[in-house]
This record gives sequence, structure tokens and C-alpha cells, in this order.
Amino acid sequence: MQPVGIAAILLFFIVYSTIRIFMAKWYYVEDYHYLTPLYSPCMTDSCVPGSSHFGTPFGEFPYFLPLGIVAFPIVAGFRVTCYYYRKAGYRSLWASPPACAVTEPHRKYTGETRLPLFVMNWHRYFFYLAFVILLINIYDAILAFRGPDGAFGIGLGTLIILVNIVALAGYTLSCHACRHVMGGRLKHFSRNPLRYRFWTLVSKLNVRHGTFAMVSLFTVLFTDFYIMAVSAGWFTDLRFIN
Ligand code: FES
Repeated sequence: MQPVGIAAILLFFIVYSTIRIFMAKWYYVEDYHYLTPLYSPCMTDSCVPGSSHFGTPFGEFPYFLPLGIVAFPIVAGFRVTCYYYRKAGYRSLWASPPACAVTEPHRKYTGETRLPLFVMNWHRYFFYLAFVILLINIYDAILAFRGPDGAFGIGLGTLIILVNIVALAGYTLSCHACRHVMGGRLKHFSRNPLRYRFWTLVSKLNVRHGTFAMVSLFTVLFTDFYIMAVSAGWFTDLRFIN
């Protein structure tokens, strides 16, 4: 039942985010500088004014191309190839294997040596790119600490964005590939004290990787939904400062 539950959550995430990235509206709240993570970075002339924090090198996009096309394949690839989601994917979607000691329906077992499962080997590269996206999200979050006049401000949206950043940082930094980058292939920890320190830290986070994976999935969805609701005018942002 557990893999089925996780697969259902993943499918919901895929359907929701697919609908959202093709909506091309309600992704930015100009007054409070809230940009949903699903559209960040927004780098085309089609983005609403103020939402392009890193310029618009791509010009106008045709209507069928999602504005968040720069980050979405990276984020989706990072999640799909994640070891934690892979377990659920293999057991409940791909049935390879459905469970321990259960015969699988595929005639021949080829592991991750052929397409499409070969892509799973790219996880470490997705990690490098996802780390850059995390830095971009952190920059977006810093910009969300402003009010309508540009002065310092905090609203409920700012706090929601902040919680999402903490969850995303926990998920990205607890990644197995990150742990390997920190301390992999070292023969002597004592000769690399700094890397050993980082490796120890990441190892502690790594124990909770599954929790970060699920929590960050929901915080991304909730952050996007909140920004969509405020941007669409369904309700106003609760402001604490300015
Ligand atoms: Fe899950 Fe790397 S193992 S994100």
C-alpha cells in the first residue's frame, strides 16, 4: 500500500504542476514580489513585468511553451531520478520488481542499462543543476521580503516561501549524490577535515531524505497555490510588516 500511496501523490504532483505550468498566469504577485517556484527563473519577454529576476535572454515564447521551461525539466528530472522516488516508481508504476522476491512481468531484466531507465544514471547531473535552481529560489525568497513601495516587508506569503526554501534545501542537500560529492572516494577523512565535516552534516540530513522528499513536494504545491490565489485575487495576502 505504501508504494501505491506515494505513486498516487506523485501522479497528483505531475498532473497539478503540468496544468499550472501551461496556465501562463497567476504566477507572480507584483506588490509583494512573490514568484512561484514553478515559474522560476522566468527568462522570456512573455513573463509579466518584474518577474524576470535574471533578465529575459529568450525573447517572446509561443503560447504553447511553458514560461518555466528553464527549471521545470531539471526539477522534474531531479525528482524522477531521486533514489527515494525511484523505489516507489519501480514497485508501483514500473513493476520492476513489484516487491522483494516477486517475479516481475518484464521478460528480461536489463536494470538501468537501457532507455528509459538508463536516464536514472543521470541523477548526479540533475543534482548539480537542481543545486543552481535552489540558489535561484533562495534569491527569489530574499526578494519576497519587500512591500509594495520596495521597503522591507513580510507577509504570510513571505513565510510560506521561506518554509518552502527550508524544505527544498533539506531535500537537495540530503540527496545521496550530494553526500557522495562531499565525502565520496575519500580514502582518508583525516586528510580532508572540511569535506569530512560536510559529509557528516549531509549524512545526518540524508537519514531524513524521504521525509524531505515528501514534505518539499507539498510545500512546493502549497506555495504555488497560495501565490496563484493571491495573484488571482481570490484573497489578499496577510501582511505583518508593510
Ligand atoms: Fe533523492 Fe538525490 S537521492 S534527490
